[in-house]
Amino acid sequence: MCGIVGYVGDKDALPILIRGLKGLEYRGYDSSGVAFIQNDNLKVIKKKGRIKILEEMLTADGYLSEGDDKPAQSDIHMGIGHTRWATHGAPSDENSHPHLSENGRICVVHNGIIENYIELRQLLTEKGYTFISETDTEVVAHLIEYHFYFDCNQDIFASVREALLEIEGSYALGVLCTDFPDLMIAARKDSPLVVGIGDHENFVASDIPAILSYTREILIVEDNEIIVLTKKDVKLYSVHGVLIQRDPIHIDWDSEAAEKGGYEHFMMKEMSEEPKAVRSTVAPRLRNGKIVLDQFPLSAEQIRAARNIHIVACGTAYHAGCVGKYVIEKLCRIPVIVDVASEFRYRDPLVDNQTIVIIISQSGETLDTLAAMREAKSRGASIISIVNVVGSSISREADYVMYTAAGPEIAVASTKAYNTQLACMYLLAFEMSHLIGKISDEEYRTYQDKLLEIPEMIEKVLESRSEIQRFASEHFNADSIFFIGRGLDYALSMEASLKLKEISYIHSEAYPGGELKHGTIALIEKGTLVVCPLTQDSLMDKMISNIQEVRARGAVVLGITTEKQTRASEVCDQVFYIPDVDPLLAPIVAVTPCQLFAYYMSVYKGCDVDKPRNLAKSVTVE
Ligand code: M6R
Repeated sequence: MCGIVGYVGDKDALPILIRGLKGLEYRGYDSSGVAFIQNDNLKVIKKKGRIKILEEMLTADGYLSEGDDKPAQSDIHMGIGHTRWATHGAPSDENSHPHLSENGRICVVHNGIIENYIELRQLLTEKGYTFISETDTEVVAHLIEYHFYFDCNQDIFASVREALLEIEGSYALGVLCTDFPDLMIAARKDSPLVVGIGDHENFVASDIPAILSYTREILIVEDNEIIVLTKKDVKLYSVHGVLIQRDPIHIDWDSEAAEKGGYEHFMMKEMSEEPKAVRSTVAPRLRNGKIVLDQFPLSAEQIRAARNIHIVACGTAYHAGCVGKYVIEKLCRIPVIVDVASEFRYRDPLVDNQTIVIIISQSGETLDTLAAMREAKSRGASIISIVNVVGSSISREADYVMYTAAGPEIAVASTKAYNTQLACMYLLAFEMSHLIGKISDEEYRTYQDKLLEIPEMIEKVLESRSEIQRFASEHFNADSIFFIGRGLDYALSMEASLKLKEISYIHSEAYPGGELKHGTIALIEKGTLVVCPLTQDSLMDKMISNIQEVRARGAVVLGITTEKQTRASEVCDQVFYIPDVDPLLAPIVAVTPCQLFAYYMSVYKGCDVDKPRNLAKSVTVE
């Protein structure tokens, strides 16, 4: 949902901005731009399209030299950059950021949504300001300029503060002003922002990897805070102007983890990392036959007293929650409600201090999820979060955070994060059910052992990926693909279907196996492809009937099943086998062939696998 980056220091700013923007491109790639001060003027270079186009423009204009990241000239030591995921106004050169104020002496990059921009735009128009874009962001540039001259005595810090006090909505902002050629201002509310602290140089960015090759000392910016950066100094203030002291954190993971490492796509690299990611999520939490969740806040009494458990998340994380519902209900015998975060918040949910809420988010910054979590917290619920990005908003605000050890996930399509979210759901379910005495010590240990076997099973699936590739090569022209399953296979089908549609643009639906005949089976015709995960032994007979129903109407069926399920080959046109996994744990293994299928379909169709159209990795607008 847009990425921002800023640099002030001794080095040449433009290569650093471009490199930072490339790292943030996963957040949006409709357009990009940079701004810097040169000869007392703000220079803005921006363009619709990918960052490569911006880079070519900067090279053509002589700001970067051909063929590498080195600068052609070296008098630019401060600048801001932006990569856009369009919200207000179509992707176009005019709507690209940075946006200039009326007199061109202030400019702004922004990630988020200014909710009262229509009122502000009207107010500023009445005062004589003109708008050249359709964006909500342009009002911010004009509003800062207005305060600069009207009531802030040409003090840029005071002007930004005054503007922010009038703005409603979410923002991560970067601001430059020609009257302060050595100073950059940034601010945050409900959109991620970090500050990188270097030696005679400082950075701002929407995420840590964007600046990790320059510094490992990171200051996390909280909501309603403003930062004033020069090359020698970083000062953090509240929006009311009170100075805040906060120590930076040291990041010890590597920027290489966020690079492709020889793979053609991040998505393939990230699927290949699934065994390691699951192992790193599970193994450190299993000690001497026990699941160790350090400082887990819920006692057996609190779990027993819980009226219900709500799982709240979006997209793939929501689908991990759907698996969690089956597992927790089965093992803990507590009702579980799974909610899409954007719906939860507005339906006056039945949540109070006897509710446990589990929040799932890879990024930890998804605004719908964050807002839902705050809503649940305000109603007194205990918040357990499952998050991948360390230090993200959700991880900081939840009562308890269980980190998934997936490492950076760059491809827009979430893969290894899902496997690790499931690993955490299993750990949580096993631990809670054991705590309240719903499973025996022996079952508790057996489940742990089974969880430890999962990485090897995923490895085996990855080794057989050519079978999935061949299948995709035969079906990538499909117009529509259905996924059907029962129980946990239905929960898995939803994720498989989402993965396929988001990166291959093929229409797809996921249905419970028994529900198709209540309407949707009307869409099945000769040649329609139906994919059936068949991992739930107890539901096999029923699924076989449902497969017969679609085949009788001409469907071609791909079954995904365990090695021991020999009956699948009798009813399916083709079968992909995964290792024999306990049915309760099956989704964490069976998702991998589904992800591989989506991947190869996308590759064969010639789609942009890692950056599918209309999407962004981190959705920080509601
Ligand atoms: O960062 P989050 O896990 O909160 O993101 C939630 C969804 O936006 C995300 O899972 C999305 O659905 C992915 N693109 C799916 O591959």
